[in-house]
Amino acid sequence: MKVLVVGSGGREHALAWKVAQSERVQRVYVAPGNGGTAGEAKCENVRLSGSVLSAESQEALCAFAGKVGIDLTVVGPEAPLTQGMVDRFRAKGLAIVGPDAQAARLEGSKVWAKAFMETYGVRTARSRSFAEYAQAQDYAVEHFKRTKQALVIKADGLAGGKGVCIAEQYAEAEASLRAFMQEGSLGTAGKTVVLEEFLVGQEVSVLAAVSVAPGRRGSILPFMAARDHKRRFAGGLGPNTGGMGAVAPAPGFSPAAAQDFHRAILEPTLRGMEQEGLDYRGFIFFGLMVQDTSCFLLEYNVRLGDPETQALVPLMDFDLTELGEAILAGNLQDCSLRWKAGVVCAPVAVVEGYPGPYQTGHPITVRQDLLSSTGALLFMAGAEQERRENQTRLCTAGGRVLSVSAWGKDMEAARDRAYRSMKAISFEGMAFREDIGCGSGHP
Ligand code: AMP
Ligand code: GLY
Repeated sequence: MKVLVVGSGGREHALAWKVAQSERVQRVYVAPGNGGTAGEAKCENVRLSGSVLSAESQEALCAFAGKVGIDLTVVGPEAPLTQGMVDRFRAKGLAIVGPDAQAARLEGSKVWAKAFMETYGVRTARSRSFAEYAQAQDYAVEHFKRTKQALVIKADGLAGGKGVCIAEQYAEAEASLRAFMQEGSLGTAGKTVVLEEFLVGQEVSVLAAVSVAPGRRGSILPFMAARDHKRRFAGGLGPNTGGMGAVAPAPGFSPAAAQDFHRAILEPTLRGMEQEGLDYRGFIFFGLMVQDTSCFLLEYNVRLGDPETQALVPLMDFDLTELGEAILAGNLQDCSLRWKAGVVCAPVAVVEGYPGPYQTGHPITVRQDLLSSTGALLFMAGAEQERRENQTRLCTAGGRVLSVSAWGKDMEAARDRAYRSMKAISFEGMAFREDIGCGSGHP
């Protein structure tokens, strides 16, 4: 079979690698892919003339899938999903895993997602939505009169990870409301905001397969829980990033917490999707805040997580293409997912300066002998293959450059291998958090 993976990050490299492991798969096309997928066995990058978000590129990909005879397409990032990529493929009779544009609003609109959670009783932080700056401001004034707790401000619409502000004081809240709602700092996102109570606890990511379509009973099958580390620096300090490293399974996510997640979040979400008549045949990401054994939903993402996927794929003891087919055929309830024993630690290497401005275009060297000795998998993200005098070399092309996924029988062994693997890699300005998977490691 032939599979198309859409996207260009570390998550897509991990997905392409996992799909290519299947004996059923002859070829994996990655659009547009990166310098890692270009060199991966069975894989081939598909050049796009424009952004994967443009209608023209999406139509061109549909035509490509039809011409090459793609049997299954999997979309990595959220933006093409909210832009109707699934709708386009299905209109042409192509098999594609992902929610349609309407269902993708669970990530595309925080206001809509929050209303969905409230309507169907999904446990979440208390919140209010505002379309008027003055009213949002009044609410923030009242909030800080009443309590010393931080106020969480979330921009409606896709904001590339820049749409959440945790304001400790009124001045901070006001500045971010003004930037989002009046100055348009996030473009069309942020014209409406959700103001939400601040929750304490441990963050956990539960990724899941979803098969919900109008007119039949749906099903959601969760993966092993994982944990991302979002702040740039060790100890949970510094600015928010796209993710500095992940571990799986998530330490401290007890069977009791998993049971609570099922009852308070997964089941009401499934009922809500069915009652709204959504067509959601794809993956979902539940971003949780866990207080002891009580789970609160911080957000839905309508895709797999990055870098959680990189930590999960080495533990998957099942065929992702079979899971994709079950999602589309509507027999997910008959599937069970087998997970390998052990733990994966997956730190991310970034370019100094990230998430602020940084330089790209520097060569990446990988000492294969050192890397092989740890058995870790190397997944590329912001990296490109450059051709020079008939030779190709890998160069940095983004802020998050790559990650390593190291397996161990416990966290200590996985961490040890992961950080030994990092020593096999170098590029100018390379930086990484050294506390991914540490007992004291803070997200
Ligand atoms: P998001 O972009 O929605 O993933 O939010 C970014 C980060 O903000 C999350 O990973 C959490 O660390 C934090 N966050 C979001 N909502 C809340 C909340 N209600 N309480 C505490 N932290 C939050
Ligand atoms: N790891 C967080 C995300 O994928 O959004």
